[in-house]
Amino acid sequence: MPQFREIAHNSDDYRRACRLRQAVLRSPLGLDLFQEDLAGEADQLHFGLFEAAELLACVVAKPTSPTAVQLRQMAVDPTQQGRGYGRRLLGSVEPALVERGYTSVTLHARVPAIGFYEKLGYRLVGGEFEEVGIAHVEMQKDLDG
Ligand SMILES: CC(C)(COP(=O)(O)OP(=O)(O)OC[C@H]1O[C@@H](n2cnc3c(N)ncnc32)[C@H](O)[C@@H]1OP(=O)(O)O)[C@@H](O)C(=O)NCCC(=O)NCCS
Repeated sequence: MPQFREIAHNSDDYRRACRLRQAVLRSPLGLDLFQEDLAGEADQLHFGLFEAAELLACVVAKPTSPTAVQLRQMAVDPTQQGRGYGRRLLGSVEPALVERGYTSVTLHARVPAIGFYEKLGYRLVGGEFEEVGIAHVEMQKDLDG
């Protein structure tokens, strides 16, 4: 049974998450996460779903106000996608955010992933824009504690 836990910045699990993010979100676009300025991530929240020491899925929450976060860098191990782990990760992240007083979540969804977020109750706000060279849309969800 996969375990949800918060990941401490700069821990071994954080480095594991960065490697997963590089493999899933950057390498296919010819980009290198490790060349990006990750200093701001010290002030962000990091979450993962683990099977023993193996990281199945991870996501970062960046506070944008005392009550709002932006979810970023959502990635599920390519060999584990479509098995409910993405749903399970966000299903644990959202109550963890509510516990800290956050009531609103936004995110920039890659267009092929819109349907995933819609299934989890996120709704489109506004039109398409480009980020890391590919089409994205902004999505939002209110969290009710
Ligand atoms: C998109 C992603 C995060 C989804 O996680 P996942 O573990 O594969 O998804 P789950 O198995 O938890 O799916 C949950 C539900 O969403 C649906 N779903 C998953 N991906 C979908 C997609 N791309 N489009 C539409 N529906 C999708 C599933 O069918 C499932 O529906 P159900 O519960 O009714 O059966 C994951 O596939 C991934 O990392 N993809 C590559 C990177 C990426 O696009 N990240 C998001 C950047 S914004």
